[in-house]
Amino acid sequence: YRIAVFASGSGSNFQAIVDAVACKELDVQIELLVCDRPQAYVVERAKQAEVPVFAFKPKEYPNRQAYEKEILQQLEERGIQLIVLAGYMRIVTNVLVDAFAGRMINIHPSLLPSFPGVDGIGQALAYGVKITGVTVHYVDGGLDSGPIITQQVVAILAGDTIETLSERMHAVEHELFPQVIGWISEGRVKLEGRQVTITA
Ligand code: GRF
Repeated sequence: YRIAVFASGSGSNFQAIVDAVACKELDVQIELLVCDRPQAYVVERAKQAEVPVFAFKPKEYPNRQAYEKEILQQLEERGIQLIVLAGYMRIVTNVLVDAFAGRMINIHPSLLPSFPGVDGIGQALAYGVKITGVTVHYVDGGLDSGPIITQQVVAILAGDTIETLSERMHAVEHELFPQVIGWISEGRVKLEGRQVTITA
């Protein structure tokens, strides 16, 4: 089962997927890392893991569709079956959303539909909610609005800061994301409208 991971930053989730594959917890092939920031640390991680990289600078293209067409070509050449957005900080347009409808997932650090968009962790802390969590969902044309595959709760504790809460959130993400990719690769995740069911 051939996947591509898209990331923009540190890539700790990318690393968690690489590690899950390496220790045979997850049986997929990571065929490509797509990165919109050639300087990002995730590119280093991909090189270490011998995962091919397609890195690009959005400013060198007239619009989003233009670079996405190039990405799409890369994905098709490699027979990619699932796009995994792991901290990819760009809006995805119809070019990829249409070509990969029901075959593109994202991880978001809040219990959607609360706190979509950037800094889900900071938004939850600022609001003062007592529980937050991690959401893995299919990607549609909206901002963190696609059908939800699974969610895991993380309690916010007295005295939590961005740092302490982020650490616990990341730990949950690193467990949950490889697990969900595994379910999908095994054909256990069914999507009908907004409803997602996971079979044993
Ligand atoms: C994660 O918190 C993820 O939920 C969000 O972006 C962050 C990426 O972190 N979409 P990393 O680059 O995987 O460390």
